[in-house]
Amino acid sequence: MASAPTTVTITGGGGQIGYALTFRIAAGDMLGPDRPVRLRLLEIPQGMKAAEGAALELQDCAFPQLIDVDVTDDPLTAFNGAQIAMLVGARPRTAGMERADLLAANAGIFGPQGKAIGAVAADDVRVVAVGNPANTNALIAAASAAPHVPADRFTALTRLDHNRAVGQLAEVLRLGPDRIEGVAIWGNHSASQFPDVAHAVVDEHDTMVIDALAERLGGRDAAVRWLDDTFIPRVAKRGAEIIEVRGSSSVASAANAAIDHVRDEQLGTPHRTWTSAAVVSRGEYGVPEGLVCSFPVRSKGVHAHGEGYEIVEGLDLDDRARARIDASVAELVAERDAVRALGVLG
Ligand code: NAD
Ligand code: LMR
Repeated sequence: MASAPTTVTITGGGGQIGYALTFRIAAGDMLGPDRPVRLRLLEIPQGMKAAEGAALELQDCAFPQLIDVDVTDDPLTAFNGAQIAMLVGARPRTAGMERADLLAANAGIFGPQGKAIGAVAADDVRVVAVGNPANTNALIAAASAAPHVPADRFTALTRLDHNRAVGQLAEVLRLGPDRIEGVAIWGNHSASQFPDVAHAVVDEHDTMVIDALAERLGGRDAAVRWLDDTFIPRVAKRGAEIIEVRGSSSVASAANAAIDHVRDEQLGTPHRTWTSAAVVSRGEYGVPEGLVCSFPVRSKGVHAHGEGYEIVEGLDLDDRARARIDASVAELVAERDAVRALGVLG
């Protein structure tokens, strides 16, 4: 028997990532072929025509799982009964804009959206912030939805960074990406993030990735040099590289990562391994409580016994890893303090 439809709300539904997301969700790539979906696309008035056009095209695909598509510029209508909210629409940084201006502009978007989620979303709503600065936007939305929605229902997307890290390792090791497990992204979805391979393995023989790199690159010192000088900066600055090469920010890979993020939270991460997501810290690994920070996470799914993403605890961190994580967390603290000064965190 088919399950009840799941209501998925996408903000910025008329934008680039929105356009890449909706068709894959409607085709069943996110929740599986047995779960019908209702899509709600939230836009600002200037984006309504693009979202309405996407809705027409979605109808023309005749996807069996797609029950209906609503397009609106009213947050209360868009989030009414939402079980999954994907917050993609954001104010991009433009010339002359400082980071503080960007935070303030996005506080004006994610604050009211969080409030609307608190007022009208479904009791089991889960939210992922994709629009940048994603971690702090999730923090703002969570604070604005309180006390109606628990803060741990809010996450931010660092799965794109995780997938980028796996892609880089797969290329150098000449392996299929599905053979690499145990990568972790720590910190902020920004150039300060720490892509960590200390616990990563090549699955079949449980070879540590660092040993596989040493074999491929001519020794352990060469492997460590490659990680520090090439891998970490390339993953952390891949967003900027994409912007430089294609002339605008990542779209299909970002939509793909957002689908991976929601699918693994809702349906569960594969046995044995973990993924990365920015979730609310309860003080794990010394990250200040309440920050939305990227950690290695697992999920048993979202159902009667599954509560979505949980942080993988107990991993050893050496001094170099600790210093990199502390630097990214310091950036998150500075972002939190900047938006707190705007009065949007209550
Ligand atoms: P885009 O400009 O093509 O689309 C954004 C859409 O959001 C536009 O249609 C705009 O009208 C809409 N919008 C703006 N304010 C809104 C509001 N208040 N409510 C509803 N909709 C609103 O941008 P894009 O390429 O789709 O990227 C969207 C965001 O995702 C950007 O902030 C980008 O930096 C970010 N991003 C994040 C990641 C990540 O890994 N976290 C990766 C790529 C891009
Ligand atoms: C990305 O990682 O591709 C996006 O967050 C865009 C950016 O500004 O880096």
